[in-house]
Amino acid sequence: MGLRIAVIGVSYLGAVHAVGLASWGHQVIGLDIDPAKVDSLNQGRATIAEPGLESALRRQLDSGRLRFTTDYAEIADFAEVHFIAVGTPAAADGSADLSQLDAVVERLAPLLRRPCLIVGKSTVPVGSAADLRRRFRQLAPAGDGVELAWNPEFLRESQALADTLAPDRLVWGVESEAASAQLRQVYAQPIADGVPVIESDLATAEIVKVAANAFLATKVSFINALSQLCQATGADVVKVANALGRDPRIGRAFLDAGPGFGGGCLPKDVAALAHRADQLGVPQLAELARSVLAVNQSQRDWVGQLALVCLGGAATGKAVAILGASFKPGTDDTRDSPALSVATRLAEAGAEVRVYDPAARLNRAGLIQTDTLEQALDGADLVCHLTEWPQFAQLDPTRLTGPRRRVLLDARLKLDRRAWEEAGWTVIQPGRPWPAGPPAGA
Ligand code: UDX
Repeated sequence: MGLRIAVIGVSYLGAVHAVGLASWGHQVIGLDIDPAKVDSLNQGRATIAEPGLESALRRQLDSGRLRFTTDYAEIADFAEVHFIAVGTPAAADGSADLSQLDAVVERLAPLLRRPCLIVGKSTVPVGSAADLRRRFRQLAPAGDGVELAWNPEFLRESQALADTLAPDRLVWGVESEAASAQLRQVYAQPIADGVPVIESDLATAEIVKVAANAFLATKVSFINALSQLCQATGADVVKVANALGRDPRIGRAFLDAGPGFGGGCLPKDVAALAHRADQLGVPQLAELARSVLAVNQSQRDWVGQLALVCLGGAATGKAVAILGASFKPGTDDTRDSPALSVATRLAEAGAEVRVYDPAARLNRAGLIQTDTLEQALDGADLVCHLTEWPQFAQLDPTRLTGPRRRVLLDARLKLDRRAWEEAGWTVIQPGRPWPAGPPAGA
């Protein structure tokens, strides 16, 4: 028999989590303050593009175990466990904006008359969970009957449902045996499937999440900084990464050099970590995190600079085709996308910039979005490969007759250089040896 569970905030994380919980046999209500989102989800239309999500959503709606509401009173009456999955976006100073969490406390706590478990899933600065527990207990009629746990989520965009249903680990921080037992019931299915549980206190669980993202970002910035070093010496960053990755202590994952990391999580979480480390008197960690962000910015600038070099130093009057706009393949998400920052830089330098992406839709002044790849390529002086969608790796360079000049900047280092060169293209891959030595200014 499943538990009665509410999921508060059904954007990315919450919608996928609600579907996952229902598919494990729990009775689930997802809550959001946005009535349009709730209507859409109740009608079986996912509000984000994730493989398999919409069909899984419909299956769970049909099973009768899942529904969505805007009504806090309904979930307060219904649920034994409340997951909080609202956004914690970046504030102007880089800290995490916790106002959506504050709103949940204000709306939900006064309605909690019976003992229940609140489980935070949102990514927060360490210390937030203990603060929330205090406030919930102060405001809830059930008082100390309200337990709090923290259970971060590690899902990746474009494989969110698969990551939720089969995570590589379950991490939670609890303050009582009862909370631990209830979480084991929530996750009975993945635990039975062999997923390991790492149980800790609240602060440890909060830190694990931020540390995971900061470590991944550090790996990317490390290889990107090395790609600039390789460029300066004629070395090959891909071979460096392959050789490093063979060491099991290092691992090959997240060592793909490119225009930098983007998306809704890594940049924001590293900035928030720097901010919190400063507040807590750990300036070395703050400095490390800020260096990771500084390398990320410099990598975008560097790739933009290389594109200008490929254009002969001047962009005015030139046409550039940009392949890919999302922050990574497999998603239509363009939040903090490195591809778009490079594209914008070229547009600001005076180029006519046409962007083609198989999924993302943009609305950016100065950038022209094309419906087809051919439209982007037509008359282009330079082709920039900035997001490694698999369809770009399958292009036959001998058939690309639209561009005016056959110059390719493969900033993701994922295209078959030899095939493109044999088709008459000059191929520049940042961090790899240049075709005939680096052009002036690189
Ligand atoms: C990330 C974490 O991976 C996930 O665990 C967490 O829950 C949310 O944040 P996501 O934002 O979906 O997931 O993106 P991810 O796949 O981690 O990629 C982040 C960025 O790093 C992308 O822009 C990607 O292109 C870039 N990247 C990744 C590289 O440039 N090189 C690499 O080797 C790997």
